[in-house]
Amino acid sequence: MVINVEEDLHQFIDDEIKGYLEVVEEEIFEHIGSDSKLDEIASYLIRVGGKRIRPALLIVAFKAVGGENIDKVVPISAAIEFIHTASLIHDDINDGADMRRGILTTNRQYGHIKALVAGDYLFVKAFEIGGRYPQEVIQMIADACGDLAMGEVIQNENKFHVHMGRDLYEEIIQKKTAALIRGSLRVGAWLGDADEDQLDAIVEYGDLVGQVFQVTDDILDIRGDVGKTGKPVGSDIREGQVTILAIRAMEVLQGEDHDELVRILTSRQHSERDIARAIELIEKAKAVDYAYEYAEDLAEKCVEALHRLPETEYRDRLELAVETILTRAY
Ligand code: FPP
Ligand code: MG
Repeated sequence: MVINVEEDLHQFIDDEIKGYLEVVEEEIFEHIGSDSKLDEIASYLIRVGGKRIRPALLIVAFKAVGGENIDKVVPISAAIEFIHTASLIHDDINDGADMRRGILTTNRQYGHIKALVAGDYLFVKAFEIGGRYPQEVIQMIADACGDLAMGEVIQNENKFHVHMGRDLYEEIIQKKTAALIRGSLRVGAWLGDADEDQLDAIVEYGDLVGQVFQVTDDILDIRGDVGKTGKPVGSDIREGQVTILAIRAMEVLQGEDHDELVRILTSRQHSERDIARAIELIEKAKAVDYAYEYAEDLAEKCVEALHRLPETEYRDRLELAVETILTRAY
């Protein structure tokens, strides 16, 4: 059964934006049809849904600074969704993940090699579209991709490193998650002819909303429901990903509890009992509440950045987007 992932996140999208996203959807499937086995594999993950949060934010940013002709941003929105999907396919190979969006990951369904090539193919499709845009846009996307790749490498190098600390955690989430969200918003605002201050505000908003997104993702790994997220609870623990919740729990817990959590988080082999126990300890340390507060602080700064944009219904949509992302984990 396919689980459609977190449709609630679309609360910030009204009928106008929904209409634009349908056009983006058409654009996506114009580029990856069903002509070949490669198209089938590359579109496998895209077909089951996904939140299309990057295209949505790109389009709202475009409108928020006065952009009018939506045709200017539809192709690049599709390209960004290709890049995002490619990065997830490659990330699932790296993480040995079994499930995403409620279905088997592309690597589990088709094997690692085909998944790798399908991810590359999606990047090529993104280049094909991106190449038609001005140099500035290409550079913004290249910067975001560079960060994404760096984030993935730093994250991989620090798997099971329970003492990695907050600075590194922040660097990882800024790169692996916030970079493409920030880049999408930046491209939207730039194509909408934002002035320099508006562009700065959008970039700041993007950086922060991207982090809010990742912190809530980390919370959902502990409190989530596979029917909603499409990923099994405790995946971060199984994969050795050290999240803000784990960092906080290790700071708070003492004695045997602390040592037991460290033992589980550094272990390469977990029983279901280990995962349940680690979640119990993270809960005991009230690390989930802490992570909510952490996300709320970021969200507040996010809304402040928006105040530098003209007061429009689109600015309100961006504000609603932060709130919706924040509350998805409640
Ligand atoms: C997901 O993190 C990680 C990413 C979205 C970044 C992946 C980036 C790459 C594979 C590099 C791709 C290269 C370029 C040039 C863009 P996660 O494992 O914490 O999230 P998950 O729980 O959704 O798997
Ligand atoms: Mg992963």
